[in-house]
Amino acid sequence: MSKSRENTAGDGNRNGNGVTRRSFIKGMGAGVVTTAILPSVVSAGVDLETIRAPEEGVTRATITLNVNGESKRVTVESRATLANTLRNELNMTGTKVVCDRGECGGCSVLIDGDPAYSCMTLAMDAAGREITTIEGLAKNGQLSPVQQAFVDFDAYQCGYCTSGQIIAATGLLEKNSNPSFSEIQRGMSGNICRCAAYQHIFAAVADAAKKGRG
Ligand code: FES
Ligand code: FES
Repeated sequence: MSKSRENTAGDGNRNGNGVTRRSFIKGMGAGVVTTAILPSVVSAGVDLETIRAPEEGVTRATITLNVNGESKRVTVESRATLANTLRNELNMTGTKVVCDRGECGGCSVLIDGDPAYSCMTLAMDAAGREITTIEGLAKNGQLSPVQQAFVDFDAYQCGYCTSGQIIAATGLLEKNSNPSFSEIQRGMSGNICRCAAYQHIFAAVADAAKKGRG
């Protein structure tokens, strides 16, 4: 599992501004956004002007998400995950919600180049950061090298895990263009395939790496 995915999975982990997920949710449960949380949220790209008074214990805010190079304004509840915001508010359903609890990697996206579990990332925490989803990989109608390798190597069966696997492989190869087999296994270890297509997946990642090196 990548470091960033470990970081987003823990309930007590912090974002770059020192807000723990636990403290954030605790604040929501109390129906308030505390003064300790507000400055961090605002500096993460949330529009202070649009933070509304809690209604029935839920706070909403309008945030800007940078998804696949495009800025998207969206109003979300403070408890909304990035995965559900992508799927339900932005209609980007390529990101799958499978376990919805940080165990399988099916919801993986890249955040500032690192694979992250979007089901364990609050949408507000992703505001102002560079998000890449499966929809952003193909360019000008051409599959990315990793996508093409997954097709060529038959690296899927039911397909539920596939977008997360491709995102994880893309993140891996952006950091390490010539991974060994064990580095591929380790880099992909945060992504479970219930169909156990692992040998095909690893072969596809190795092929994409090879072709990427030219
Ligand atoms: S759906 Fe997010 S880790 Fe499984
Ligand atoms: S292809 Fe079915 S879960 Fe991976």
